[in-house]
Amino acid sequence: MDSGKNQLRIVDITKAFPSDQEQIDVLDCINLSVSSGEFVSILGPSGCGKSTIFNLIVGLIQPDSGTILLGDVPIHGVTGNFAYMQQNDLLLPWRTVIQNVVVGAEIQSKQKANLTAKATKLLEWVGLKGFEKSYPSQLSGGMRQRVALIRTLLLEKEILLLDEPFGSLDAITRSSMHQLLFEIFQEWKKTVLLITHDIEEALLFSDRVYVLSDRPATVKDEVYVGLERPRSVTNLEFISYKQQLLDTLEVEVAKCRGLIDF
Ligand SMILES: Nc1ncnc2c1ncn2[C@@H]1O[C@H](COP(=O)(O)OP(=O)(O)OP(=O)(O)O)[C@@H](O)[C@H]1O
Ligand SMILES: [Mg+2]
Repeated sequence: MDSGKNQLRIVDITKAFPSDQEQIDVLDCINLSVSSGEFVSILGPSGCGKSTIFNLIVGLIQPDSGTILLGDVPIHGVTGNFAYMQQNDLLLPWRTVIQNVVVGAEIQSKQKANLTAKATKLLEWVGLKGFEKSYPSQLSGGMRQRVALIRTLLLEKEILLLDEPFGSLDAITRSSMHQLLFEIFQEWKKTVLLITHDIEEALLFSDRVYVLSDRPATVKDEVYVGLERPRSVTNLEFISYKQQLLDTLEVEVAKCRGLIDF
């Protein structure tokens, strides 16, 4: 395991949110890590706390206990280390595509002239040439996701945190987004932490997959995916990994619905 300066480690993180009735226990002693150049996915039942993990990593919220380290440096509560694509695209309706793409990098006070040129190139790369001056309401779901992805890339961080980036897309659009993601990972040499509900999506790319339990989330399984890339969903080994993850997840979802008591 890489102990280099960009290894991200989440160590014994526990988090609860206050509520009117009783507090909501969300994360229970979570341990995760991502090494430089790795692709790691997180699977888990809806509402178990996956997005909360990302919000902790990027410093939007603080853990109740535990540590988050980048290399050897504790970073909880510190912002600006990661490129974060949140679960919904959060495009600003009053800004055009190009203005939406540069907004995050602008806030990080990067040079505006350079940014617009880079953004224009990236938009062309994802097939959005000619839509620079459109507004988000004039785009399809897949186009909006591509805009959000480019905005994330323009932050120029080594580690990408992608929270269900393709969750709402149809199968064909999703598949073309997968090709983009694969290129970004392999050719741009990014480190990726991906939250997804889709087991195949996790297995297509990941070096490792974490499976979380229902809330309060614990790490139920960590699967090393020893398959060559590019991967095929019809490969027998792929199908066997899929079955293994499905079995673990189904138990968690059944527990979540009260179908099994453990
Ligand atoms: N800021 C907050 N304040 C209070 N409760 C919160 C907050 N953020 C999340 N929660 C609660 O924490 C739990 C986990 O939420 P989270 O969004 O992390 O789940 P998730 O695993 O990402 O779900 P999904 O797969 O549906 O996106 C939920 O019960 C949610 O209501
Ligand atoms: Mg979520």
